[in-house]
Amino acid sequence: MQDVIKTTTEFVKKTLENAEAGHDWFHIERVYKTALTINHAEKGDELIVALAALLHDIADPKFNNGNEELGPQVAEDFLKSIYVSEDVIRQVKLIIQNMSFKNSFDNQSFTSKEMEIVQDADRLDAIGAIGIARAFTYGGFKNRVLYDPSILPEQHQNKESYKNTSAPTINHFYEKLLLLKDMMNTTEGKRIALERHNFMLLYLDHFYAEWEGK
Ligand code: ADP
Ligand code: NI
Repeated sequence: MQDVIKTTTEFVKKTLENAEAGHDWFHIERVYKTALTINHAEKGDELIVALAALLHDIADPKFNNGNEELGPQVAEDFLKSIYVSEDVIRQVKLIIQNMSFKNSFDNQSFTSKEMEIVQDADRLDAIGAIGIARAFTYGGFKNRVLYDPSILPEQHQNKESYKNTSAPTINHFYEKLLLLKDMMNTTEGKRIALERHNFMLLYLDHFYAEWEGK
C-alpha cells in the first residue's frame, strides 16, 4: 500500500507542476492529510480514501474546456498502470466523478463513506485560515477589491453576485465559505468545519472593526 501511495504522490506532484495556487500540489497534500485525519475517526477504507484524495483534482474541468470525464479517466489509466485492483479503481473513479461542489447540487448518483470523507476534506480546505488565504489569493488574481462597504452583508448572500466578476472578495464568504459547515457529511468533518467556521466569523469581526479604524 505504501508503494502505491508513494508512486501516486509522485505522479500527482509531477502532473500538477504548473497548476495555479488554489489547486496546486499543496492543496492536494492538505486534502490528503485531512482526509486521513477524518478517516481515522470514521474508519473508511484507507487506500481508497488516500488515492481519491490524491487524484481528486488531477484534471480540473475548469482548465480543460469543461471536460468532466478527463480527471476520472486520467486517474483510472494511472491506477491501472500501477496494477491497483479493479474494485479500488472503480470506487476511486466514482468518488472523483461525483465529489465536486457543482455535483453536490445536482442529483448526486453515487455516495460512499470514502467519498464523504474526501469531499469533506476538500471542502475543509476552502474554510478556516487556509480558506481565507485561498479566497484572497483568488480575489487578487481576479483584481477584486477586498471589501466594499456600500454593499451590505445581506446583499452578499445574493447568489447572482457569485457570477459578478467585480464582487469584493468578502462576498465570497457569504456566498460559499460560511455555507460549507452545513454541507459536511461526516461527524468528524462537521467537528473540524465548526472550528474553522468560528474562526472565520472571528476573522470577519476583526476585519470590519479594523475597516472602521477600531
Ligand atoms: P474547488 O476547490 O471546489 O474547485 P474553486 O475552484 O471554485 O473551488 O475555488 C478554489 C479556491 O478559490 C477556493 O478556496 C475558493 O473558495 C476560492 N474561490 C472561488 N471563487 C471565489 C471567489 N469568487 N472569490 C474568492 N475566492 C474564490
Ligand atoms: Ni480540491
